[in-house]
Amino acid sequence: MAALLGPGILLLAIQYARRRDRWEPKAPLPPWQGVGKPLGLTAIPGGVRVRFQGAELEAVFLGEDHLRLTWFPNEAVPSYALTEAGETSSFELEDQEGGYLLKTPRLALAVGEEGLTLWDGAGRLLWQETYPERSGRAWRHRVRLLPEERVLGLGERAYPLDRRGGVFRFWNQDPGGSYGSGEDPLYLSVPLWLSLKPAGECLAFYENSADGFADLRGGEALVGFLGGTFRYHLIPGPLEEALARYVRLTGLPPLPPRWALGFHYARWGLRTRKEVEEVVEGFLRRGLPLKAVHLDIDYMRGYRVFTVDEGRFPDLAGMVRAFGERGVRTVLILDPGVKAEKGFTPYEEGLREGVFCRLPSGEVFLGPVWPGLSAFPDFTDPRGRAWWGERLKGFLDMGISGFWLDMNEPALFAAWGEPIFPRSVRHSLEGQGGDHALAHNLYGFLMARASFEGFRKHAPHRRPFLLTRAGFAGVQGYAWAWTGDVESTWEGLKATLRALLGLSLSGVYWVGSDIGGFSGNPSPELYLRWFQLAAFTPFFRLHSARWTRRREPWRFGEEVLDGVRWAMAQRERLLPYLYTLAHRASQKGLPLLRPLFLQGGQPDGAGLEEAFLLGSDLLVAPVLEEGARAKRVPLPGGGWYPFGEDRILQGPKWVELPAPLKRIPLLVRAGSILPLLEEGGLSLHLYPEEGGAEGGLYWDEGDGEGPYRLDRFRLFPVEGGYRLLWEGEGEYPWPWEGVGLRLFGRRLWGAWVEGKVFPCQGERVLLPPFREALLEVEG
Ligand code: GLC
Repeated sequence: MAALLGPGILLLAIQYARRRDRWEPKAPLPPWQGVGKPLGLTAIPGGVRVRFQGAELEAVFLGEDHLRLTWFPNEAVPSYALTEAGETSSFELEDQEGGYLLKTPRLALAVGEEGLTLWDGAGRLLWQETYPERSGRAWRHRVRLLPEERVLGLGERAYPLDRRGGVFRFWNQDPGGSYGSGEDPLYLSVPLWLSLKPAGECLAFYENSADGFADLRGGEALVGFLGGTFRYHLIPGPLEEALARYVRLTGLPPLPPRWALGFHYARWGLRTRKEVEEVVEGFLRRGLPLKAVHLDIDYMRGYRVFTVDEGRFPDLAGMVRAFGERGVRTVLILDPGVKAEKGFTPYEEGLREGVFCRLPSGEVFLGPVWPGLSAFPDFTDPRGRAWWGERLKGFLDMGISGFWLDMNEPALFAAWGEPIFPRSVRHSLEGQGGDHALAHNLYGFLMARASFEGFRKHAPHRRPFLLTRAGFAGVQGYAWAWTGDVESTWEGLKATLRALLGLSLSGVYWVGSDIGGFSGNPSPELYLRWFQLAAFTPFFRLHSARWTRRREPWRFGEEVLDGVRWAMAQRERLLPYLYTLAHRASQKGLPLLRPLFLQGGQPDGAGLEEAFLLGSDLLVAPVLEEGARAKRVPLPGGGWYPFGEDRILQGPKWVELPAPLKRIPLLVRAGSILPLLEEGGLSLHLYPEEGGAEGGLYWDEGDGEGPYRLDRFRLFPVEGGYRLLWEGEGEYPWPWEGVGLRLFGRRLWGAWVEGKVFPCQGERVLLPPFREALLEVEG
């Protein structure tokens, strides 16, 4: 990457790599040593402490279905990921041959001679591990994998969703340049895995931020961390519930401002205000629904964070206001590096306030990034976070709607070796002190937290919008994530879907990718297929590197533009459905993007990544192959309507559906009601199964914390048609004129509300708000 950026940066990158090698001599790990057999035990609140030769294990139940295991000795690190401490739960303890058995109604843990075994309340095997080994600061253990077991999660990976067969590292890293399939690690690792097996699914979360690995090549998982506390949490399935439980433990994703669910545009290399204005104008003139424009590092003065180049971006506030009046929000990129330059205020202030990371010698650590040698705020220091948060005030006052947090792995430019800080760099870790080996994976996560807190403080009436490249378990509580600099190839598109689903299965629900890939020039077809996928992923943004050809949708010819219009129109239409999902995620911790197996099972032979669900009711079958004009779709169990059609397909089975260039197959679960924006109002799409259908809607002002409304719709079959019941709660008034209904599967003739008849106009009937409506069908 550094070579792409010119001789100045290249020189700094060479100098830095030399310095880093000097600071960080390679030392081999001492030999691994086991802990032996259990020697005795003491009861503690919610669990036990078991003695081993030179080690101790603490097993504590935090609820009937949550077991926390911690090995000692260890290096304590503040528990950043967990937002809830969790109440300890009562349990029964029995002596067993060679060990002990600990039981709650939902879990049973055997502490045996060689290792630990965990069953669920029904006696299904969840987890079986041999006791761990230590080597200096490092711990590792082996967990048995059954032949049919699938391992999912582990954060962002350009690897098939079933991680069996691979070796993975938990170490946030900018791959440099761009990445394709198989690159590991990437920017955002989450030490969490889901075990999917016919019986006994479970979730394991390692609460450890140190450099770690998971080797899944054999019949066991070898998982270890090179420091920190060897602590892990086990939660029994079903997986969807376990994941929601984990998300509630590590932070629910807050309800985003509604505009953020629309289409975002970004481009690295738009050098002037005029260029940005032309792009915005280009979208609006063509009636393409642009909701946010992101300014990349070009807006800054010499890439200095918290500055604006007034020459190239005169009166930024005026531009932001003018865009705002036309419904377009402005988001600014922020990189953590602060140019180390005498007279540069943020640097001088940061030095004075002592908020930068330091070398063991006490000197401020400097590393090369965009502006040249830079200092880095220590986000593990509450003062560092507060300092950073204060710096957002000026931009928030100017009307900036969100921040895009980049380079926060943290990444540096190094001509060789790892492009990161030396591990010896010191961090506060809430005052207790520690090195970069422990803080590295926390850096992006805590930068997001600092930004979130600053946002809340300085714009308390707006919901924060933050986008981050790096993160750790719990980052979903503060920011959305995008999958970084993926290559512009069909392989890149596939890797992207894997990365997105992997993030989602790791609790990071608000995810998206650079449409068309970051680093190259996608063919018109690849560009369009990527657009179509992205329209149904939570974060919908076009972005590209400055050395690539421009990517606005009108630059690829009429056919592509038509396809883009379709994708954007579906996205706009689905806004109420998406917003309702956003609300559900923020309350219950349920995922937005879901692999099919989470609900309803799959037909035989289906991979895990050929299609996915957005929420529980919409199945999206993206086209990932060049030249394909049809798609074989694995339907989960139950009935499925092709979106907007009357026919029902029964799953589980494979179906082949048309996928002309202009659109991709979408299916709706029979039994659901989708709230959609249509013809300037709200429509309910009713997709009944035999027993009827059900759906909900969340709505409010779109930002802030004012009143809301939550509506529930239930459809029941009756003689000659259906009965539709509408119950609502909340103070927010119904903002549309009435409600439109469209029925699928049978032909709607009209509806009755309080004895008045409303005939169908075309395919839709428009009703005034009602508690009960009778729908009459034809024939
Ligand atoms: C990094 C980001 C990319 C951004 C570029 C310039 O490569 O991943 O999105 O455009 O930096 O800021």
